Amino acid sequence: MQKLTGIILAGGLGTRLLPLTKITNKHLLPVFNKPMIFYPIEKIAASGIEELIIVVGDKSAGDFIRLLGNGRDFGLKNIFYIYQEGEKGIAHALGLCENSIRGEKIIVVLGDNLFSDDLTKQTQIFLKQKAGARILLKKVNTPERFGVPEIKDGKILKITEKPSVPDSDYAVTGIYMYHRDVFSVIKKLKPSERGEIEITEVNNKYIFEGALTHGYLRGWWTDAGTIESYSRAWDYVRKEQKRQ
Ligand code: G1P
Repeated sequence: MQKLTGIILAGGLGTRLLPLTKITNKHLLPVFNKPMIFYPIEKIAASGIEELIIVVGDKSAGDFIRLLGNGRDFGLKNIFYIYQEGEKGIAHALGLCENSIRGEKIIVVLGDNLFSDDLTKQTQIFLKQKAGARILLKKVNTPERFGVPEIKDGKILKITEKPSVPDSDYAVTGIYMYHRDVFSVIKKLKPSERGEIEITEVNNKYIFEGALTHGYLRGWWTDAGTIESYSRAWDYVRKEQKRQ
C-alpha cells in the first residue's frame, strides 16, 4: 500500500505566547521533557510514515535542522525542510510543499497540536478513500477558539473559523489529510481579512464538493498556542508520562 507523506507546519510568530516566543520559535519551546515539535513528529513516525516535510518560518529556522537533523532518531527515513517567508497562514505554508511531495496523499499536522491517539487507524481509512480530504474533530470546552463544524446527520455542512456563536462543541483539530489536489484548491483562494490563506476555506471547498470525511480523536488533544493551552499541554504530557 502507498504511504502518506507527513507535513508539519512550524512557522508563525507565536504572538499569543509572547514573551516566551520573543527569541525562540513556539514549536521549540519545552513541553515537559521535550521540545513541542517532538510530539507531532513522534505521532507521525509511529503511524508508519517515513518521509516528513517541516515548514519553518523566519524565527529560529536553522535551529530546527540542528535539533531534528535527518529524522533518523525518530525512525523516519528523512526530513525535508521548507522555508516560509513572512506570516501568510497555514494553507499558504502547505502550498509551498507541492513540488516536494512524491506520493498522492499527505497528512498535515500543526506543530503546536499535541494528542494521545495513535494516527494509524485514521491514516489507513484515508488511504482507502478514493479522493478528497479527511479531518479529525475533538469535543472541546471553548469551540470559539477554533474552526468549528456544523454537523447534521453525521455530515459536516460547513466549518466556521473562530465563530462568536459556535454551531457545535467540536474543534477541527490541526490534523488534516488531503489528496494532492489540495494544491490546486489553495491556488484558487484569496487571503482573508487577516491577510492569511485560511485552511478552513480549503476544507469548506471539499465540503462543497461532497469530498470531506471526518473522524474523531478519542484521547486527549490540545493546541499549545496560548498560555492557557500551552500549560494544559504540559499537564496532559506530565500525566501521560506518569501513567507509563
Ligand atoms: C488553527 C486553525 C483552526 C484549528 C486550529 C487547531 O487555528 O485555523 O481552524 O481549529 O488551528 O489547532 P490557530 O491555531 O491558527 O488559531
